[in-house]
Amino acid sequence: MSNSDTGPAPDPVLHIQDLDYSVRNRTLFKGLELSVSAGESVAITGPSGSGKSTLLSSVLGLIKPHGGSIRVTGAEVTKLRGKQLARLRSETIGTVFQFGELLPELSPLDNVALAALLSRSDRAGGYRKAQELLDELRVPSAETTEELSGGEHQRTAVARALINSPELILADEPTGSLDPDATARIAELLFDLPRRRRCGLVLVTHDVEVAARADRVLRLEAGLLVPAQVREAVQA
Ligand SMILES: Nc1ncnc2c1ncn2[C@@H]1O[C@H](COP(=O)(O)OP(=O)(O)OP(=O)(O)O)[C@@H](O)[C@H]1O
Ligand SMILES: [Mg+2]
Repeated sequence: MSNSDTGPAPDPVLHIQDLDYSVRNRTLFKGLELSVSAGESVAITGPSGSGKSTLLSSVLGLIKPHGGSIRVTGAEVTKLRGKQLARLRSETIGTVFQFGELLPELSPLDNVALAALLSRSDRAGGYRKAQELLDELRVPSAETTEELSGGEHQRTAVARALINSPELILADEPTGSLDPDATARIAELLFDLPRRRRCGLVLVTHDVEVAARADRVLRLEAGLLVPAQVREAVQA
């Protein structure tokens, strides 16, 4: 996805322009803009129902906006269909949500390897890389994912998001179900990724301390993303 025949793409990993979207007569996005570079983290805050999750769904191509452009590593998501969209989702974008993306009855290793096997057929290689990531993120081996602690579960979700070396990571309230200690550790892990792996990170959170770790904090308000004063709020 990231390669084009004109050489390395100059585009940011995520570039949203003039995005419009409404549901049930409510305007969620009205000319929304967002640009995220490789190696950069952006936190998005905003009231419940303002459209934060809908924005991430739009980037994943799960929702078709009514106007505007969403480019991920140069590819126009709003125009992708079928296999191309599936490939973008499995290879270019990694997702970490509050819950739901891991299958509780599978082992952490199977959950992470599965994400690799869905995009390529090298079974042994997929399992090897999954084990390496789980070791790196200090996830203990377990028969089933449901027996993990909340923090271990989210570290598994991060491993799953990373297995195909995505250029962009989308996280929706990834610490929403964790205690303060686990929250701090998962936040540290996530905000370290842009620096260590040169990916872009967009993280939606209601937690001002988590948001304050991002390079930029934006607030979704009246259909637009505006700079938020989270750092000052945390320090006050
Ligand atoms: N599939 C859908 N059909 C109709 N309305 C929807 C749909 N999905 C979301 N909405 C509406 O869009 C609005 C934005 O929802 P969204 O889940 O994006 O908010 P959010 O900012 O993520 O909120 P929260 O902080 O509570 O997670 C809400 O009013 C919601 O009811
Ligand atoms: Mg949400």
